[in-house]
Amino acid sequence: MTRRPKVGISMKSYQTLPREAVSYAESFEKLLGDEKEIDIFFLPTAVSLYPAAKVLKDTSILYGIQNIGPEANGAFTGENSVESVKALNGSLVELGHYERRTIFRESTDMIAKKVALVLEQGLSPILCIGEEEKLSDKKQLKKVLKSDLESCLKYSDESKFSNLMIAYEPFWAIGKSDAADPEYVHESHRLIRELLEELFGSSKAEKVHIIYGGSVSKDIAYDLANNEDVDGLFVGRFGHDPKNFKMIVNEVKRAKKL
Ligand code: PGA
Repeated sequence: MTRRPKVGISMKSYQTLPREAVSYAESFEKLLGDEKEIDIFFLPTAVSLYPAAKVLKDTSILYGIQNIGPEANGAFTGENSVESVKALNGSLVELGHYERRTIFRESTDMIAKKVALVLEQGLSPILCIGEEEKLSDKKQLKKVLKSDLESCLKYSDESKFSNLMIAYEPFWAIGKSDAADPEYVHESHRLIRELLEELFGSSKAEKVHIIYGGSVSKDIAYDLANNEDVDGLFVGRFGHDPKNFKMIVNEVKRAKKL
């Protein structure tokens, strides 16, 4: 099955001023507004989502948020709601990022509730999973990934998995000077696809997008994306300049022969 590649960026809390997000969204629109073969997405900070959405709402560029509360609305002080993302025509919610799990101590049970909620609301969760340390033993790696996938998807409606995105983000490759080695990434993606097949059956597994994130740069984007189980890339620091981000998109297109 051919899955339409996806390349996106989360601004984490690097870009804190709404006007920065607006200007980034405007550059995106200029540089990538005509992109036909790849889904491009942008996740600014929550406060910048509204002004960025105003720029992107009539374009093909997708957008969303980096976290939400575990229920659609109610007593969740300090959280953002999936309903707000929907109201702004956003389609994506990043969940379970390493920084959420470690700095904010988010449990897998909490992540699982959020993933289920996003699917129920008709949006796409980008569920980040990955091992803490590099594991050369494939059996061990598969075991860790299986446990993460099982616990984070336990409340989700499998019939909605065509909207599910998995971001394979090994903790040890985030915020570094280089991404994980492409061969290791390809093997991990293959294991994730195999696990999805074992857990949910192949017709559901083949619809899920598995993208790689963790120190992605234009220099390694082609090698990372040059594999059938890598459905795209999730960019961080090395995409802060929209021109670099566009180069990464071009490398993915080259790898996918588009
Ligand atoms: P980085 O961020 O590319 O800056 O390492 C990636 C991520 O955390 O998704």
